[in-house]
Amino acid sequence: MERTFAIIKPNAFADGNSGKILSRIYEAGFKVVGLKKLYLSRVEAEGFYHVHSGKPFFAELTEFMASGPCIVMVLEAEDAIRKWRDLMGATNPAEAAEGTLRKEFGKSLGENATHGSDAPETAAFEIGYFFSGLELL
Ligand code: CMP
Repeated sequence: MERTFAIIKPNAFADGNSGKILSRIYEAGFKVVGLKKLYLSRVEAEGFYHVHSGKPFFAELTEFMASGPCIVMVLEAEDAIRKWRDLMGATNPAEAAEGTLRKEFGKSLGENATHGSDAPETAAFEIGYFFSGLELL
């Protein structure tokens, strides 16, 4: 079993799509090991996305992630990192395949509805950024 980190981003939360996205997560066979609603500060968003600091979209990205509440989750499944990325679809909703979450709920490259870890090392950092061990029992 593998764990990955996921976010229902502020646009999807504000649009009232959190329940639909969670249903899709359960239908896909994930176990939701951790889940909480947060309203990130700009500094917290910058810390989470530190690997993108210096990129031209960093200010836009962190402003958006601090623009409203989101839901952060730890998902468990076999091959969870790849499986969650497949369910989300391509980063840009315009390029995401039919049936993926970003195709259905994303609005733009920035407001793309969901986030997921891209590798085991990233998942370890991202899970630890938001959850303590006790919250994942
Ligand atoms: P995410 O999977 O959360 O990882 C980093 C995010 O940066 C990505 O989804 C996009 O929402 C965002 N992003 C990536 N490239 C760009 C870009 N060129 N302009 C704006 N946002 C971007």
